[in-house]
Amino acid sequence: MANKRIPVIAGNWKMNKVRDEALQFIYSVNQEVPSKELVETVICASDVLLRCLVKRQGDELRIGAQNVHYEEFGAFTGETSPRVLETTGVTYVIIGHSERREMFNETDETVNKKLHTALKYHLTPIVCVGESLSIREAGTTNDYVRSQVVNAYKGVSAKNALLTIVAYEPIWAIGTGKTATPEQAEDTILSIRNVLAELYGNDVSERIRILYGGSVNTSNIEVLIAKPNIDGALVGGASLDPASFLALVTAAVRK
Ligand code: PGA
Repeated sequence: MANKRIPVIAGNWKMNKVRDEALQFIYSVNQEVPSKELVETVICASDVLLRCLVKRQGDELRIGAQNVHYEEFGAFTGETSPRVLETTGVTYVIIGHSERREMFNETDETVNKKLHTALKYHLTPIVCVGESLSIREAGTTNDYVRSQVVNAYKGVSAKNALLTIVAYEPIWAIGTGKTATPEQAEDTILSIRNVLAELYGNDVSERIRILYGGSVNTSNIEVLIAKPNIDGALVGGASLDPASFLALVTAAVRK
């Protein structure tokens, strides 16, 4: 069953790259990205760059946003409407990244609202969950992540759950160079799949892609992706360089 899930490599550029750098990147990877039947390749850039990337994306590359507001329009200064993303040609959106949870007061409740919104506007949500170092050290990671998943998916139908992607990103591994071991990542990702099975049944949970994120690079992608439940990666730092990004995508094809 597991080998039926198409792997996903999603680059999260965070607040990096000016327009010229983004264009240079896209021109150098466009022709090299493998078929989306082998791997889904996504770049999540800052909002200002999205239109210029969408206009120049090759057939196999997809462009995503890093956040979305849960309302369509209104008095939400500084926020981005899901309609604007949809009409810009964006097809993915990261929801509930730990940097947004920690620095911009995102909660399980806003993550849930944004998940519903993304689905309504045909944006493939990449729902981020993950524990802090103190939770990892206390041995309660899987309980903590379980509650993040249950809260995120409240009111989401099985049909819609199938359209989502989960990214397990331990906070202590993000941008630190300290990757979870493949065993730690697989263990928590399996526990996430079990939660999804409780919510939606095995058939659905076996078809939802669950990614690992946190200091993924060209040296550790192979061992991570070799794990049966790890369906790809959400990648920050190592997605900024075209050669490194393409190497990650190529590694995922071999899954
Ligand atoms: P990193 O970031 O790969 O630089 O650790 C991952 C992320 O924040 O999604």
